[in-house]
Amino acid sequence: MSETGSNKDVSQESLPSEQATAHDGAVTPAGNPFADPGLPPHQPRIQDIDERAAKRSERTVALLFVVSMLATIGFIASYVVFPIDKIVYIFPFGHVSALNFALGLTLGTALFCIGAGAVHWARTLMSDVEIADERHPIGAESEAKATVMADFRQGAAESGFGRRKLLRNTLFGAVALVPLSGVVLLRDLGPLPGDKLRHTLWAKGKLLVNQNTNEPLRPEDIPVGSLTFVKPEGLEEDDHEFNVEIAKAAVMVVRIQPEDIKDKKELDWSHEGIVAYSRICTHVGCPVTLYEQSTHHVLCPCHQSTFDMADGARVIFGPAGHALPQLRIGVNQDGYLEALGDFAEPVGPSFWERG
Ligand code: FES
Repeated sequence: MSETGSNKDVSQESLPSEQATAHDGAVTPAGNPFADPGLPPHQPRIQDIDERAAKRSERTVALLFVVSMLATIGFIASYVVFPIDKIVYIFPFGHVSALNFALGLTLGTALFCIGAGAVHWARTLMSDVEIADERHPIGAESEAKATVMADFRQGAAESGFGRRKLLRNTLFGAVALVPLSGVVLLRDLGPLPGDKLRHTLWAKGKLLVNQNTNEPLRPEDIPVGSLTFVKPEGLEEDDHEFNVEIAKAAVMVVRIQPEDIKDKKELDWSHEGIVAYSRICTHVGCPVTLYEQSTHHVLCPCHQSTFDMADGARVIFGPAGHALPQLRIGVNQDGYLEALGDFAEPVGPSFWERG
């Protein structure tokens, strides 16, 4: 019979001595390389033998819990103190939102201090005597349950949870305050949009301003066959709400020969063949950008919805649900193109109309 895998294949140096002594003093069976070495002898920590060191650790843990409480209060205060649009320079992050930075810093500090305090408490003050638990049947005997309860009480006593009131109370305070951060975050769910989606910045008398040149438009600036993107007078790119407002108020202006316009209402709402329509696709809201002069079709690049600008911008292809809303325009006494009111219907995807 082969002896491969037997002790004869193992070098003599790697074999244990005839009788090995385990860490806890137990004698292992001779010649068994897999014998349980047992637990290493327990080394008492400085906190176990010096009450002043234990007190120092206690104060350190309490300090971490207090810092956590202060950080949570700082988190709540940040909501009140920092305006949402305040940008600050912080090395090495560069320009960041002061509110976001303060929220992240304070919440991170609050959670870190609770964790660090708990770890320091466990490492320095709770008992570190290792206990080997023998395997036993799953169903516990009443005796075992009593032992568990006794161990639990002993563990609770050794953790100092009852005796070290400063630690216990500051831990309760830190853990009780942290959830308040979540309550404050609920503020971001509001306010309700109300009827904001039904209205845009367009109003009677607002000039049509070329979005590229920032100049108000006259009819003669718009040749037949051209496509011009416009925004309402007064809306500037550095406005805090620019992106929100332009997402509703973006308009494209096209000039068509008046005799080519098939829709009577479209003709009535135009000026000398100049028609203004919302740029926001009625499918899911992409900006419509591509204009085909010979067919008067505009195309949305996202899913290819196609609208006929000579026929009330009705959908002739693609998934869009309805025509692009038209903006009624005219010319003011100075000769500039102006809106004659807001859109008569909500712009953008049709699901907004159900709001
Ligand atoms: S968003 Fe325009 S076709 Fe889908």
